[in-house]
This record gives sequence, structure tokens and C-alpha cells, in this order.
Amino acid sequence: MKPINVGLLGLGTVGGGTLTVLRRNQAEITRRAGRAILVKMAAVRDLSKAQQLYAGEDIKITTNPLEVVENPEIDIVVELIGGTDQAKALVLKAIANGKHVVTANKALLAMHGNEIFAAAQAKGVMVAFEAAVAGGIPIIKAVREGLSANRIEWVAGIINGTTNFILTEMRDKGLAFDTVLAEAQRLGYAESDPTFDIEGVDAAHKLTILAAIAFGIPMQFDKAYTEGISNLTKEDIQYAEELGYRIKLLGITKRVAQGIELRVHPTLIPTKRLIANVEGVMNAVLVKGDAVGATLYYGRGAGAEPTASAVVADLVDVTRMHTADPEHRVPHLAFQPDALSDEPILPMSEVRTAYYLRMRAFDKPGVLADITRILADMEISIDAMIQKEPDEGQEQVDIIMLTHVTVEKNVNQAINKIEGLSTISGKVTRLRLETLG
Ligand code: NDP
Ligand code: HSE
Repeated sequence: MKPINVGLLGLGTVGGGTLTVLRRNQAEITRRAGRAILVKMAAVRDLSKAQQLYAGEDIKITTNPLEVVENPEIDIVVELIGGTDQAKALVLKAIANGKHVVTANKALLAMHGNEIFAAAQAKGVMVAFEAAVAGGIPIIKAVREGLSANRIEWVAGIINGTTNFILTEMRDKGLAFDTVLAEAQRLGYAESDPTFDIEGVDAAHKLTILAAIAFGIPMQFDKAYTEGISNLTKEDIQYAEELGYRIKLLGITKRVAQGIELRVHPTLIPTKRLIANVEGVMNAVLVKGDAVGATLYYGRGAGAEPTASAVVADLVDVTRMHTADPEHRVPHLAFQPDALSDEPILPMSEVRTAYYLRMRAFDKPGVLADITRILADMEISIDAMIQKEPDEGQEQVDIIMLTHVTVEKNVNQAINKIEGLSTISGKVTRLRLETLG
């Protein structure tokens, strides 16, 4: 059968990995897809670097990505350049030209997915994006197809390898933040703008996609709450461990009576949970369905070949399905496009969860009573508490409290009042806690 022709936009970490995996496993991939998948063209910025790296390969390399999306011989365009402006224009152009698209670009889909999927739907082409969430873990396929019998209740995941790598290396090896970040960049895990990783933006992009396919809602990245790891201190990591918890940057989306929670933040989770022990660049996603219960998906969330594994799986899917009637393909967002739900995304102030509060207090009689009175007035119940002994010559002590589940706006008010006490020094540290039971 005639091979399927692929054009790559980008030959960097993921583009290079895709080429390597396609080459190495060509025979098996052809047996699965039913025809050969051939990379015919690739676009890069630095022509001489790519020509040196891929000398002797039968691939036309260009610095003009439009040449790829305009080439009538190309059946599938694989977008791996990253960013949102040029990538969006190229993807829309490819769709308009009747080409199927595979992309690993979560930023693009979280921000412009609604428009891109509508254009693809109208044109009868597929946009596949397994690599956009959790790298090599086939989580899109699992949620969109494997769990389609379920009413999904919540999804919680470690979906950024760079920050999980940083948290792990800092805790285990005592390495400095910058040293570990530089290593993540060297290994090709980090985004071109690493603040996307560190500040939780990349995880929020991925969570936006997961929420869309879990609940059948449009992409609403602008409504996601995003908090990264840059303000985490080693004291909080240590205190959490003493209390039996580990801090992970989690993406959480939950369906509750009032709407949908969509939030990324450092989260205390019980150390005994499997997901608390997901270390390094590994990702893991917990999905709770009403019929199946909790399911856990684990694997490499970044890097050349793990991500290529997902890109190539999409290429195989598109190759198998491209002759099928477009009306009978798996819908992009798991639910039929005319059956998407308008359930609102809840503001963070309405989210209900448990909390870790750390405050620095003068070691005087009545301090604790003042704090607990404020919490009681806001109907916040304390679950556990530790007070540290003051260091030699110090008048101040750390007080750490875990609360039961409560609504965030009450915690915010309580924190304001506690910070106003004359016996409290500085800001109260507030982290969220999920038992994931
Ligand atoms: P890289 O920076 O390693 O590679 C980007 C590639 O795109 C390079 O070959 C670059 O060319 C090329 N490129 C960039 N802009 C242009 C342009 N305007 N015209 C032509 N070529 C261009 O990125 P990654 O491979 O790491 O990431 C690609 C995408 O995959 C991103 O969306 C990223 O978020 C996503 N992703 C990455 C993962 C990872 O582990 N790295 C994992 C999952 C998703 P040149 O080399 O000449 O500069
Ligand atoms: N920068 C991302 C991460 C790449 O660290 O997880 C994978 O999407």
C-alpha cells in the first residue's frame, strides 16, 4: 500500500526523537499501521545544524515551514516547533490544506484548541495530541476511549517532569534549585521558557486539556488557577515529611455540584500514596471514574523518545483512521462537538480542600489561643498541629497546622486576620492538601 507521507515542523528534542523511533521501529510500525510512515520533509530554523545532524537522510530540510504545510505530497503535518503564534498559523494552514495534524504543543491547544478543533471538524481532518499531556503516558487515549463508560469525577496528576525532577533532586540530594533546573534543560525536559515549568503554566496547559476530555467542556486555560514551586521552602518540604506528607506540583480538576475545579499548585499528599512516590522526571495521573474507581497512569513525562512514543502512536492512529468517515472517528474532546457542557469553572475562592498553614509566632502565652479562635470563627477545623522549639536565643517559633476540608475564601480571611496579630511575624505560608483517597 502507498506509504503515508509526514512533514515535521521542528527537528529538536521531540522532532529528533520522532525520527529516531520511526527509523528504529519502522518494520513493527508498518505492521501496525498497515502501511509505511515516511518522513519526507522537515522545517527548522538553523539549516546547517540540521543538515549536519541528518546528513545522508532522505528528508528535504527547509527553513520555510510553509513549504511543509503547502506541499501536496504531505498527508500528516507534525507540529513540534512550540510556541503559540506561528504554530497556530501553521496548524490552521495545514488543516485548511486538508492535512491531518499531530502536535505535542499543549500551550497551543490549551489556548487555541477550540478554534483548531472546530476548523479540523469542518474540514474533516484529525488533530491528534497524545504527546501534549504527560509525554509518553497514553493518558489521552485512556481518558478519551478507555474510560468512556464512566462519569469522571476527578483527575489529579504530576504532569510536569521538570518541576518533579527539581523537587526530587532538591529533597534527595540537597541540590540548589538553579543547578537542577540547568540539568533539566540540558536533558531536554524544560520548556524553551522554563518559567512555564516552574510557575505551573505548563501543567495548567496540560490540565486544561485533561479537563476538556474528562468532562466534555471547551478548553478554558484562562480560568485555570496556577501556582508554581518558586516560593516553596525546604522547611515546608521537611515539615510536610514530618507530618507524613510529600509536596508535589499537582494539576487537579474535579467535578463538584457548583461546577468544575481547575487548579495547579504545590500540594501535600500522604506519603503512603503511590503518586507521592513518583520521582524525577516521571509523571503520573490519577483518574477517578464512577464505575472503575481510581486508576493510575505512570511513565516518562518528557524527553526525546518518551514523547516521540506518543507522537508516533498518533501517527499510527491517523494512518489507520484517515480513510474512515470523519463523522465516525473519536471526537477530539471525547464528547461529540455539539454535546459539550457549559458547566462553569469555579473561582479558586470557592474551591474546597484541606490546608497546611505555617506561621512564625512569638513564643508567648495566648498566641495559640488567638490563632485557633480566628480559625474557629471562620469554621475551620484543625486536623493536626506541631509547634517547634525555638532555636537557641530565638524568641520566635514555627507553628504548623493542618486543617480539615474547608472553603478557600474562609482560609484567605483567616490568614489575613492571623497576619494582623501582633504576635505573628511575617506572612503565613499556605499550601493545599489532598488525601486523594
Ligand atoms: P526544541 O526547542 O528542542 O525544538 C524545536 C524545533 O523547532 C527545532 O528544531 C527548531 O529549529 C524548530 N523551530 C522552532 N521555531 C521554528 C520556526 N519558526 N521555523 C522552523 N523551525 C522552527 O523543542 P522540543 O522538541 O523540546 O519541543 C517541541 C514541542 O513539544 C513544544 O511544543 C513542547 O512544549 C512539546 N513537548 C516537549 C517535550 C520535551 O520533553 N521536550 C515533551 C512534550 C511536549 P532549530 O533547531 O533550527 O532552532
Ligand atoms: N517541560 C515539560 C515537562 C515537557 O517538564 O514536563 C513535557 O511536556
